[in-house]
Amino acid sequence: MTILVTGGLGYIGSHTVVELLNNDFEVVIVDDLSNSERFILNNIQEITGKKPVFYPFDLRRKELLAQVFDAHQIDGCINFAASKAVGESQLKPVDYYENNLFSLINILQEFKTREISNFIFSSSCTVYGQADVMPIDENAPLKMPESVYGKTKQMGEQILIDFAKAYHRKISVLRYFNPIGAHPSGKLGELPIGVPDNLVPYVMQTAAGIREKLSIWGDNYPTQDGTAVRDYIYVVDLAKAHVAALKKLIEDTSAEAVVDTYNLGTGKGSSVLEVVKAFEKANNVEVPYKICSRREGDITIAYANPEKAERELNWKSETSLEESLRTVWEWQKYLNARNS
Ligand SMILES: NC(=O)c1ccc[n+]([C@@H]2O[C@H](COP(=O)([O-])OP(=O)(O)OC[C@H]3O[C@@H](n4cnc5c(N)ncnc54)[C@H](O)[C@@H]3O)[C@@H](O)[C@H]2O)c1
Repeated sequence: MTILVTGGLGYIGSHTVVELLNNDFEVVIVDDLSNSERFILNNIQEITGKKPVFYPFDLRRKELLAQVFDAHQIDGCINFAASKAVGESQLKPVDYYENNLFSLINILQEFKTREISNFIFSSSCTVYGQADVMPIDENAPLKMPESVYGKTKQMGEQILIDFAKAYHRKISVLRYFNPIGAHPSGKLGELPIGVPDNLVPYVMQTAAGIREKLSIWGDNYPTQDGTAVRDYIYVVDLAKAHVAALKKLIEDTSAEAVVDTYNLGTGKGSSVLEVVKAFEKANNVEVPYKICSRREGDITIAYANPEKAERELNWKSETSLEESLRTVWEWQKYLNARNS
């Protein structure tokens, strides 16, 4: 079976391509390299011994996308392609709406006319805002996210629900908590393009001396040590969940519309300070930090109830925080060697 992976050279996409190839899927990648680099394709080949087909273009170019569907018998799509920097999305709202929603709609147009099903969408726990109850399950009420980025995810989910209903298609919406870590080979990871928006790349760059100090935004939250709490999920575990979700969609041969929604997390919340300490311990390095005032829009605490994914996908996060953080440091060493 051939799966279109958009954004397949990006952070989560590249790890998922490896898992798909290891599970004998054929993979066609479309990625415009706006937040990734070509060497990732070679590294995927080195890891798997297989080379996916790669098209470097922007999904907003409908005519090029149609040519990909003409050239390959596509059986499903995992749509990672999106702009993802929360802060930037506030400054460039129109660009974020255009990239994240037009890309999605262009793929759905092809799915619609060609009668293809099996679509997986990268959503985010940001759709829950500050949930009232922990851990967060899939029935928790959705709150309109403050960021434009978060809004594109919530709107994307809504578009997909309407699409599935109208055309009787099968969709899986995966709400990631906080993906971290790198491939055990040390050859795939989150690329340090621009100033990192997420905690772990910042920790990594501070430990490597690229940044002077890690800023911790607030130490007076009502949590175990006053810093904000999140659910950090190892990227390879996350990639495996995509394969499990895809297999479930493919095995479902009914003609009914399906919209499966899953929270993908570990079920455990870790504070910012706990992550810093775990990183220092795992890698025997120091991470200098400073406490700053809270950042507007940051939520206090979010961790998943992953039981639905365990039950229905037979999938579970397996990798500890420390182990994940060890892979991050290996990735930094790889990047250092590449740049030297
Ligand atoms: N990383 C996270 O913390 C996180 C959390 C929740 C959800 N997500 C979502 O998961 C998905 C993947 O995230 P990631 O961390 O791997 O991001 P990433 O930026 O590493 O990967 C996205 C890839 O898509 C490509 N891309 C972007 N717009 C494109 C377009 N118009 N046409 C073709 N290619 C395009 C980029 O070049 C990049 O390679 C995104 O949809 C993101 O919003 C990420």
